[in-house]
Amino acid sequence: MPSLPAQRLATLAQTYGAPLWVYDAALIRQRIAELKCFDVVRFAQKACSNTHILRLMREQGVQVDAVSRGEILRALAAGYSTDGDTPGVVFTADLLDRATLATVVEHSVTVNAGSIDMLHQLGAASPGHKVWLRINPGFGHGHSNKTNTGGEQSKHGIWHTELLTALAAVRSNGLQLVGLHMHIGSGVDYAHLSEVCGAMVGLVQQTQAAGYDLHAISTGGGLSIPYQDGEPRVDTGHYFGLWDAARREAERIMGHALVLEIEPGRYLVAESGCLLTEVRATKQAGANHFVLVDAGFNELMRPAMYGSFHGMSVIAADAAERPLGECVVAGPLCESGDVFTQGDGGVVLPRLLPRARVGDLLVIHDTGAYGASMSSNYNSRPLIAEALVDGDTDRLIRRRQTVDELLALEAV
Ligand code: LLP
Repeated sequence: MPSLPAQRLATLAQTYGAPLWVYDAALIRQRIAELKCFDVVRFAQKACSNTHILRLMREQGVQVDAVSRGEILRALAAGYSTDGDTPGVVFTADLLDRATLATVVEHSVTVNAGSIDMLHQLGAASPGHKVWLRINPGFGHGHSNKTNTGGEQSKHGIWHTELLTALAAVRSNGLQLVGLHMHIGSGVDYAHLSEVCGAMVGLVQQTQAAGYDLHAISTGGGLSIPYQDGEPRVDTGHYFGLWDAARREAERIMGHALVLEIEPGRYLVAESGCLLTEVRATKQAGANHFVLVDAGFNELMRPAMYGSFHGMSVIAADAAERPLGECVVAGPLCESGDVFTQGDGGVVLPRLLPRARVGDLLVIHDTGAYGASMSSNYNSRPLIAEALVDGDTDRLIRRRQTVDELLALEAV
């Protein structure tokens, strides 16, 4: 359930209009505090890149990861610095397009390289530049095949058997090695975690044996949240314990202390957010009762993209008295897959909810991660607004886009 009471959400929808993204700052701070056992918490801003959220992160001592030129510029706009061994911003990617390379060099942004070509291109443009090596350990795990970032079907990271070649490229290009990084996918599971920790120790061993030094290691992100009742909550203490043991082993190999970074996206923000959307039509199609809302997959893409489950609730004065009924919740897009209650492969999965009526608010839960940040303008729909609640106060942190702004891009 959303951390904010229904009445508060209803007032927000009235104040700012629906559809609306809402975030609860208090819950974000709480999630950050749970991970403070790590030396560095680096927020994977792809999960939620609004600069107001980034500023909140910075105020809590959280650093940030960027995966595009736009995300680098967002981090700088939010006041992050690029200096030091533990810089505010690290750029993680598998390639450097030309514009991003120029920005990385101009602002001295530490690069987490997922390919050896990146090392050559960076070295040629900026000798002495700081780099991490992102290694694909040869296996991965994700909540969907689309979020598995390890193994030979993944484009991500430098293949583990190429480590020595990558290290040689660091040296021959005069780059400075900061650390080793691994992110095998989104959706943690402890069996894989011990494998990842073991793989990291093995890589540190090879790095040391080849005569290279390291300042840090990064666990990547991937911590899940319970989207559905009954799904377990990550035991962050246990998670830290496994990685801390790996770090100690790595320190023994290197002969000095190593900084331990974690790079979560979802864990910090998913549960803080919800999507408020208004019911605009209902209809029956054979056995299926459809509830049509004013947000679509151009807003929240996760159900259409991965068959992801998001909890839902109906806000109406008499919601508690409404009979429960199975319904398919769908959006306004001219596309059959614009359904919020679906499984992998697009199978419609009716959901038991209080019978919604036109004018009710439907709340889609746990959308703080990969909600607004994955939105698009499909069907020429302007991006919707975002509001941040902090205790008794709330404010708009992104206004609604206009159709005129979309058309202006084509005035060429
Ligand atoms: N670090 C790297 C290098 C990543 O590629 C990612 C996510 C993260 C950290 C953060 O992962 P998290 O802690 O949020 O699981 N759109 C998908 C998730 C794609 C994640 C891509 N990389 C979704 O909605 O589930």
